[in-house]
Amino acid sequence: PKIVFVSSDGSEETVAVDAGTSIMSAAQQHGIEGIVADCGGSCSCATCHVYVEQELADRFDPVGQFEDELLDTTACERLCNSRLSCQLVMGDHVDGVRVEIPESQM
Ligand code: FES
Repeated sequence: PKIVFVSSDGSEETVAVDAGTSIMSAAQQHGIEGIVADCGGSCSCATCHVYVEQELADRFDPVGQFEDELLDTTACERLCNSRLSCQLVMGDHVDGVRVEIPESQM
């Protein structure tokens, strides 16, 4: 499946990843800037914050309890489509999803 990363300056980059890859890992594999991911994906840092395209947002697993608490501590404002990208697992059901990267993670 594909992911379209949209940076805070509006530039876009599309990457193809294996199903089962988290959006955070995909960003790291492809050198996408702006997703810091300090904790390496263990849902404890909140520096992998992204805004997920509304139309596909519901197809990912729902926000977990720890993720929910961390989303209240993100550097950029939490919006209704805010998620931690390490908790978003790619698959064909979300192929082509657009993910906006906030201006800052710290
Ligand atoms: Fe740390 Fe996602 S990488 S919470």
